[in-house]
Amino acid sequence: MLDIEKEPSQETPDPEPASDGGKPALSRKGFIITYPMFRYWNKKALATGMKSQPLNVYIHMPYCIQRCAYCWFKTTTLRENRLKEIDQYVRSVCRELELASRYFDLGNRPVETVYFGGGTPTLLSEENIDHLFAALHANFSLADPQITFEGEPVTLTERKAALLKHHKVNRISLGIQSFKEEIVFQTGRRDTEEQAFEAIALAKSTGAEVNIDLISGLAGETPETWEYSVRRALEADVHNITIYKLELYANTPYYSAEKSKEISLPTDEQELELIKYALGELRKHDYRPVNTFTFTKGGTYDQKHTRSKWLGNDNCAVGVSAFGSVGRWNYQNMNDIPAYTKAIERGDLPAFRGYNCTTFDLMVRDAVMGIKLVDLDYVRFRDRHGIDLLRTCDRELSELEAEGFVTVGAGNISLTDRGILFGDYVGRVLEGSLKKLSGESQGSRARVLF
Ligand SMILES: C[S@@+](CC[C@H](N)C(=O)[O-])C[C@H]1O[C@@H](n2cnc3c(N)ncnc32)[C@H](O)[C@@H]1O
Ligand code: SF4
Repeated sequence: MLDIEKEPSQETPDPEPASDGGKPALSRKGFIITYPMFRYWNKKALATGMKSQPLNVYIHMPYCIQRCAYCWFKTTTLRENRLKEIDQYVRSVCRELELASRYFDLGNRPVETVYFGGGTPTLLSEENIDHLFAALHANFSLADPQITFEGEPVTLTERKAALLKHHKVNRISLGIQSFKEEIVFQTGRRDTEEQAFEAIALAKSTGAEVNIDLISGLAGETPETWEYSVRRALEADVHNITIYKLELYANTPYYSAEKSKEISLPTDEQELELIKYALGELRKHDYRPVNTFTFTKGGTYDQKHTRSKWLGNDNCAVGVSAFGSVGRWNYQNMNDIPAYTKAIERGDLPAFRGYNCTTFDLMVRDAVMGIKLVDLDYVRFRDRHGIDLLRTCDRELSELEAEGFVTVGAGNISLTDRGILFGDYVGRVLEGSLKKLSGESQGSRARVLF
């Protein structure tokens, strides 16, 4: 290990800075060896500085049994016989895991979370699931990670559940959306309430932590149907309950059906009442928020993938349309499956756009994404960026506190329930406040990655 006690700082003292923080005295003495000066270096810093930086892996599986009317993800259905295409796609993803690991030199970094998202990863054949795990193990160092597999209830069979257990999948996330069949069927899905409960029981039987997704604001939702769904979600007694607010995207059938008045969605005010009700019930049953949409029983079962990413750790994302970040780079893969596959066949990484973060972007990112984890540790923030959030955002934080969105305690800026209800509002306020530190406007320096 480096012996800092014997570094040249002992024999060659750093030049003294100007005592009043102004201009230094004019002198030819005092050669600057390094910045920050050796006088600031210490043994304690070795504990964090010399640890390998944690890594997360995201794997996107775009296939689904149907295209749900509200869904905004890059997905494609199995209508035509696509089994061969899926085999080919999985081969490409396995190859991308190899290419990305080599390109970014990730092979020896401890992977703390792996997330199979979609689409519907539980649709994959057993052989394809085996191939993906083989590629993961061959190219990454899995350090007992949290491994999440997303799925739609009707696709989780006993054999598949057993296979997931075999591969040490320890978190299964099921899209339920609503426990009321009339609401579910309007979205084009066919999962009955009974099938949803069967899948939850099966997922639990593997010993994995189980998350279920609900969406607030689906077509046809009334206070009564919503109360029913929330009650059934609580009765399911799962580890995590996630509630997404419906985001209406222009490329979805929901959007056009809304415009042509074929369906009617709850208004913003009505949706706010629905989510307020859910939050109250979740609190009553000791489900605590670990981010602005996931609640865990007793606060015990964290969604570690999201946490790790939003704390600023790298996320190597593979698969069509997947987006990730490694170091300063943010990148997103191509959306088109044939183009994606071709790029991989050429041995290219399949990113089609990227963004090279400045140090300033990374600092703002830590605030904007960090507050989504409900508690933002401002001491850690200061250690990472040298910025005291309490002082820099003093006025905005006082206003947010007075308006009931945050509390500022010893060590943390924390979202209140009102802050959680308004999702990313606090993050946007902090972003605006921090950007005042920078003379130039942000967001104009995007550079293409590959
Ligand atoms: C990628 S899906 C994976 C689960 C699985 N495919 C299923 O639907 O059962 C993850 C979740 O995204 C949510 N989601 C999809 N489209 C959404 C939208 N437009 N607004 C809010 N949440 C959405 C749904 O709750 C869904 O369960
Ligand atoms: S909600 Fe799930 S099953 Fe439906 S289209 Fe989206 S990813 Fe596929």
